[in-house]
Amino acid sequence: MLPRGAGRRVSRPSPEDLLQLALATADEAAALVRRHAAGTIEVAATKSSDIDVVTAADRASEELIRARILAARPDDAFLGEEGDDIEGSSGVRWIVDPIDGTVNFLYGIPEYAVSIAAELDGEVVAGVVADVAKQEVYAGCRGGVPTRDGVPLAVRGPASLAHRLVATGFSYSSDMRAIQAAGVARLLPEVRDIRRSGSCAIDLCRVASGALDGYVEEGVNLWDHAAAGLIARLAGARLELATGAGGRTAVVCGPDHGFEELLSAVRTAGLVRE
Ligand code: IPD
Ligand code: CA
Ligand code: CA
Repeated sequence: MLPRGAGRRVSRPSPEDLLQLALATADEAAALVRRHAAGTIEVAATKSSDIDVVTAADRASEELIRARILAARPDDAFLGEEGDDIEGSSGVRWIVDPIDGTVNFLYGIPEYAVSIAAELDGEVVAGVVADVAKQEVYAGCRGGVPTRDGVPLAVRGPASLAHRLVATGFSYSSDMRAIQAAGVARLLPEVRDIRRSGSCAIDLCRVASGALDGYVEEGVNLWDHAAAGLIARLAGARLELATGAGGRTAVVCGPDHGFEELLSAVRTAGLVRE
């Protein structure tokens, strides 16, 4: 049997083409999640632990995103948090978190997002994060200016460590949380304050918009940070993947200026390894 797409002549998409498809799809998925939010939300299943939950809306959002994207670009690969990975042959892979901030969604806390990133030959080149409750859309593509609802984004100006507002998040594993809590306890006295929104994608978009001076979290997955990480970088942030204190991948992100000081502080706090 021939692989999917074999023999078909497909022109290479530009980052802007991929961004437009991501925008249209995220808009539809965010509307679907809002419809679910207006009804009764229940846990449909649990995953890595009994507090790592999935709802019908997570599944429906991912199904819609996968259907729209593969209808438009049938030869692309697809990695979504809730479904099976799909291989492709076009050089494009979509990386999707159908609801980032599911626990907030479950509790009616208006901090959750649909996140869609497109990778071309292994590099994330387009990303959209739709903040569902606020109805705001963050977007960016390689070579372009990142925006929120069309307005350009830029990171916050320089701040000393003591004046940095830093977001973080916690794993669904209680062993990992004990390690994370110890690190956060050591970082807290060194910075302005700590925030925990419950959505990695929104946190990174806030670094992009200047609403945060930094973000660090161990144990996040590619679908949590692929789209928002690109948006943050385009807005003037640096994002590094490090090894966290618990041995899993940690994301450290902050404005390019002063990034080394932030990285050194999270190392000293023991949130990431030397
Ligand atoms: C979670 C959120 C949260 C972060 C967790 C993620 P989910 O994603 O991004 O802020 O702290 O590590 O798993 O489960 O809501 O898609
Ligand atoms: Ca997530
Ligand atoms: Ca999710």
